[in-house]
Amino acid sequence: MNNVLRDNLMKKGFMLVCDGSNGAGKTTVIKTIEQYLKNKGLDVIVTREPGGTPIGEKIREIILDPTTPEMCNLTELMLFGAGRAQHINEKILPALAAGKVVISDRFDAATFSFQHYARGIDLDTICKINDMALNGFSPDMNIILDLDPKVGLERVMQRGEGLDRMEDEKMEFLERARNGYLTQAKQNPSKFTVIDASQTQAEVADEVISAIDRLIENHSTC
Ligand SMILES: Nc1ncnc2c1ncn2[C@@H]1O[C@H](COP(=O)(O)OP(=O)(O)OP(=O)(O)O)[C@@H](O)[C@H]1O
Ligand SMILES: [Mg+2]
Repeated sequence: MNNVLRDNLMKKGFMLVCDGSNGAGKTTVIKTIEQYLKNKGLDVIVTREPGGTPIGEKIREIILDPTTPEMCNLTELMLFGAGRAQHINEKILPALAAGKVVISDRFDAATFSFQHYARGIDLDTICKINDMALNGFSPDMNIILDLDPKVGLERVMQRGEGLDRMEDEKMEFLERARNGYLTQAKQNPSKFTVIDASQTQAEVADEVISAIDRLIENHSTC
């Protein structure tokens, strides 16, 4: 990348989201993307949802606590919304204003997939909470790592860390969430890129990097 292109990019930060099924390889591929973009001389921050800020990380603990399966759907939705409002205001918008590239491990597409498509909360309610948190903001690209949730769960179990409250859901729930991502991608192809996450780590990384290169080309010319 030449210096003019890099300087142009750094004047206007952009945000990538890596999302998809549990255990699909989001955190793994984000490390590769982060290094790839840093090697281009870009200023990169990696963050996550739920979480991303001190307040958001406390909310994450509540959301994912496997000892509280009784959490009602609306509570869960509003906790995600509260964490997202904090995330955007405290971390994401200031980073973008400073010309940084923000990579988030999950973001708002996960709310549509898990709380709407999987849990069944109506779209109107989801949009109300989400719109309040986002306040018109939208990430530049969602990279969806698509994987059979059974395979994802096996990967998570092999990691040996136990299951959180969302991972401990029934397989049908995880399948509905997966399909929710695919539906969103079909509805909004300019903001979503679906990658087959059953490929090797190297193949997934190559496809993700090609998608990012395309985004950078467009970003630097508009
Ligand atoms: N393409 C791949 N093929 C096989 N295993 C993979 C692949 N990508 C990642 N893994 C392995 O699968 C496990 C889950 O990967 P990772 O933690 O990156 O997934 P994740 O999507 O971030 O999971 P979670 O939803 O729990 O945050 C890890 O042990 C990782 O090394
Ligand atoms: Mg992860």
